[in-house]
Amino acid sequence: MCGIIGYVGNKKANSILIDGLLALEYRGYDSAGIATLENNEIKILKDKGRVKNILNLDGYDKLEGTYGIAHTRWATHGKPSKENSHPHFDNSKTFAVVHNGIIENYNELRAFLTENGYTFYSQTDTEVIPNLINYYFTKLNDSSKENNEKILEAVSSATKDLKGSYAIEVISPLIPETIIVARKDSPLVIGTSNGENFVASDIPALLTYTRDFYLLDDNELAVITKDSITFYNNNLDTYNKEIKNIEWDASAAEKNGYEDYMLKEIFEQPNSIRETIGSRLKLNEPCNFDDLDISADYLKNVNKIFIVACGTAMHAGLVGKVLLEKLCKIPTEVDIASEFRYRDPIIDDKTLCIYVSQSGETADTITALKLSKAKGAKTLAISNVIGSSITREADYTIYTHAGPEIAVASTKAYTSQVVLFAVLAIHFAEILGFGNSEITINSDGGTITLDNLKKDILSLPKKLNNILENTDIIKQFADEAFKEKDVFFLGRGIDETVAREGSLKLKEISYIHSEAYASGELKHGPIALIENGINVISILTDPSLAKKSISNIQEVITRGAKTMVVTNQDLEGHEFDYVIEIPEVCPLISPILSVVPLQLLAYYISKNKGLDVDKPRNLAKSVTVE
Ligand code: F6R
Repeated sequence: MCGIIGYVGNKKANSILIDGLLALEYRGYDSAGIATLENNEIKILKDKGRVKNILNLDGYDKLEGTYGIAHTRWATHGKPSKENSHPHFDNSKTFAVVHNGIIENYNELRAFLTENGYTFYSQTDTEVIPNLINYYFTKLNDSSKENNEKILEAVSSATKDLKGSYAIEVISPLIPETIIVARKDSPLVIGTSNGENFVASDIPALLTYTRDFYLLDDNELAVITKDSITFYNNNLDTYNKEIKNIEWDASAAEKNGYEDYMLKEIFEQPNSIRETIGSRLKLNEPCNFDDLDISADYLKNVNKIFIVACGTAMHAGLVGKVLLEKLCKIPTEVDIASEFRYRDPIIDDKTLCIYVSQSGETADTITALKLSKAKGAKTLAISNVIGSSITREADYTIYTHAGPEIAVASTKAYTSQVVLFAVLAIHFAEILGFGNSEITINSDGGTITLDNLKKDILSLPKKLNNILENTDIIKQFADEAFKEKDVFFLGRGIDETVAREGSLKLKEISYIHSEAYASGELKHGPIALIENGINVISILTDPSLAKKSISNIQEVITRGAKTMVVTNQDLEGHEFDYVIEIPEVCPLISPILSVVPLQLLAYYISKNKGLDVDKPRNLAKSVTVE
């Protein structure tokens, strides 16, 4: 979704703004623009299309300004066009604004401003913001006040009128070398270094410049110059804010020789899950979560867990549900965040709500979290981004520590989330006194001890490496499958959750229509779509369900389907077109392995089609609007 960059220092701002926008490209966008000051006048260069197009716009090379604001736009109100691109001016060209978020009452505000003589050139919701600032600034006809004081007041008054979400930057020739920022429900960070300061929608965009960040909270404003950052609350009282040092280094957000971020991130998984496990899980010791102070008394009182998330994070939650129910025996439901918040869920102080979000900035997930807090539940965030909005809202936070994920399609974040659910479920089971119990893992009555489950978790990095060293069959299948229009993914039990993730991965980066079904459900309708040559991909890792799943695959073979099976079971005597063998592991955590061939398949198919793997059309890495 929209990305914001700002710079104020001694260097020429134009190239720093462009580099920042390029670093935010992965968030997804359709237009880009920058604004700096030239001869006391704001100069805006913007257009639809890629960030690099700005370099060819008239006047780019002549921009000498040492501060400015920049934006990548992901269209919501008004199609991608030059007029609708940010930055936006007020009528008098005194204020330039970039904005991430959605102003829900923009129609009312537009009508109000129109009544007061303002005109509009774009279809955006954003254009009301610079004009509202102008309106309040003009109203403050107080000659005893300096411009910087008046403009800050005008920005504050304008933001109080806004309903919805916003992260904004404002510049004006009346306050040279100053950027004013404000946020509510949209991400914004301020990076600080010697004699220069930066603004961005997320931390990785600024890692080449600094590791020291301030994280702006909701309803806060900041006035930024090259030597100072002053923070204000809604009432314009100033206060100090803690600086956060971020450990990720810049190279973690680079491709390091891989053709695409997605491929790099897939291959990073042995290491990223090692980082997730960290010192939390060791053999023959209880799990240790330094960062999670949940008491036995509280947990024993919990009678319901909700896992709430979107997309891939929700798929990780589906595995989390199985783990929590099996290990802790607490009924657990998984909800899509955008539905959860509107369905009046039954929540009270005995409910624990777990929110999963790689970015920690997903608007639906954050809003759902706020709702469950208001209903009295305790909230636990699982996120990858230190200090992200969701972690600041939740009662408890645990981090996946997977390192920056840049490709839009989530891969290593998913495996880290699932690993974290496994370790968390063991931790909860130990707190609840189930540490020595045998855990039933499948319908055949198979069991595992927590110690053996721990061993299996610790064996995952090596097993993942093994999968990543054997990619030839996946490539062969991708060489045929990229020509197809429809694909089905099937699985039973925990394998069905992986089918859903494999299907999502394929559709989002290859634009091939795909559907995921519980294998047994196929014959209740979707089998009508199976015809000669259609690809059906099955995941088969639970021995107790293998026979039934194989029968379901036979049903599609009989109807002409081409089959690929991802399995750790012995399939001797059965004929499938492609079999991807993965190492054996306890079925409760098998998704961490079985998903990898599906990630690779989606990647190779997308490459075969010549698509932009890292930045698929219409998608955004951080979905910061509802
Ligand atoms: C799919 C994907 C999305 C995200 C979803 C939630 O590959 O990346 O489905 O998983 O938008 O994002 P986060 O985890 O940042 O809340």
